[in-house]
Amino acid sequence: MNCRNCKKKLKKFMTFGKMPIANAFVKNLKQREYFFELAPSYCPKCSLFQLIKQPNPKKLFHKNYAFFAGTSLKMQNHFKNLATKLITNFKLKKDDLTVEIGNNDGGVVHYLSKRNFRNLGVDPSANVAKSAKRKGVNIFNNFFNFQTAKLIKKKYGPVKVFVAQNTLAHIPNIDSVFKGVETILSKNGIMVTEDPYLPEMLRKCSYDQIYDEHVFIFSLTAIKNICEKHGLQVFDIEKLDTAGGSLRYFICRNGSRKIKQKVLSQFKIEKKLNLLNPKTYKKFKDSCEKSKKSLLNILRKLKKDNKTIVGYGATSKSTTIFNYCGINSNLIDYITDTTPTKIDKFTPGTHIPVKSHEHFKKNYPDYALLLAWNHKNEIFKKEKYRYSTRGNWIIHLPKLRIIKK
Ligand code: TYD
Repeated sequence: MNCRNCKKKLKKFMTFGKMPIANAFVKNLKQREYFFELAPSYCPKCSLFQLIKQPNPKKLFHKNYAFFAGTSLKMQNHFKNLATKLITNFKLKKDDLTVEIGNNDGGVVHYLSKRNFRNLGVDPSANVAKSAKRKGVNIFNNFFNFQTAKLIKKKYGPVKVFVAQNTLAHIPNIDSVFKGVETILSKNGIMVTEDPYLPEMLRKCSYDQIYDEHVFIFSLTAIKNICEKHGLQVFDIEKLDTAGGSLRYFICRNGSRKIKQKVLSQFKIEKKLNLLNPKTYKKFKDSCEKSKKSLLNILRKLKKDNKTIVGYGATSKSTTIFNYCGINSNLIDYITDTTPTKIDKFTPGTHIPVKSHEHFKKNYPDYALLLAWNHKNEIFKKEKYRYSTRGNWIIHLPKLRIIKK
């Protein structure tokens, strides 16, 4: 397999073994599931961290896509804040076009449309796109690539702001996306994109960020290398605590804006992190194995003591944890989640039942394993006067810990 950006040959440095599709919650246990080998790699030339193999994107994003971003209040505020930032900091005008790819059931374009700004959401999953349309977003139900960029430009003209939030990491043909951006962006236009940040993943050992949809985990260095091929440059960055620790990149055409000092400093920080050194990834691999052992030890011990354990949040991330660690319903009684499309189904590959939040409230366990750890504050706030007085939390990263009631 060659690097999806610079075509250099890739080597896998570890494997998480056979994995099902992270969001393919199972309705009927007789149904056959699709498995593939989940193995990450990094490019020794351009440093892009990527999966060796990814299932066909049509298997991941379709009319029954299970993930609805609108389930998180924190994410709603996050989208709203970005909309305000675009309007105030970048002086967006009502007739400037903003295109957001992977806008799911709303996104930033939802908040722009509410304020009557020209907008277009591009999402391949029909069910979430329909939901965004109901909220007033102008929708193009499709994958974004060079071909669709040409269609959009022809129909709507140049784009002032191009947004991709937790979306670029999902698209294997990154070249085609950037070629599309290069084609579609107006002279002074900007691209704003954010995804889980590689140095954060390595620091926290949040290996559960690695699953089929995340074909890439980006660093600033890798984004810069991709931009360079397309006459683009990163002129600003912003550290975010969303999606488990992300970096937001502000990108423009070469020379059209001044590169901020912050960007230059972050390059220096990344250099010190040795993102091209095999030892960096060997250390990550060892940490993943340690994390797996300690999680299994605690779950087995609690089960031996007849404790009930429930997973909180049927996340995509948890599919990697459960399948890599071999955790099934012998260890976890059920998973609680608020997403209607996941409730009363079973987790991919490991078949743990998913139950509603109402069920959780009637069946509080002794321990809840926080799988949606990226929403910890929101969840802890919500459960403060309910679950926290009845049960304990297990948090598996960066180091396994138990928060007692
Ligand atoms: P998400 O953060 O997108 O994680 P991933 O990208 O790994 O799928 O998903 C969070 C999941 O947690 C989603 O299924 C909704 C669920 N959830 C709850 O059940 N209750 C909550 O209070 C929150 C915030 C999320």
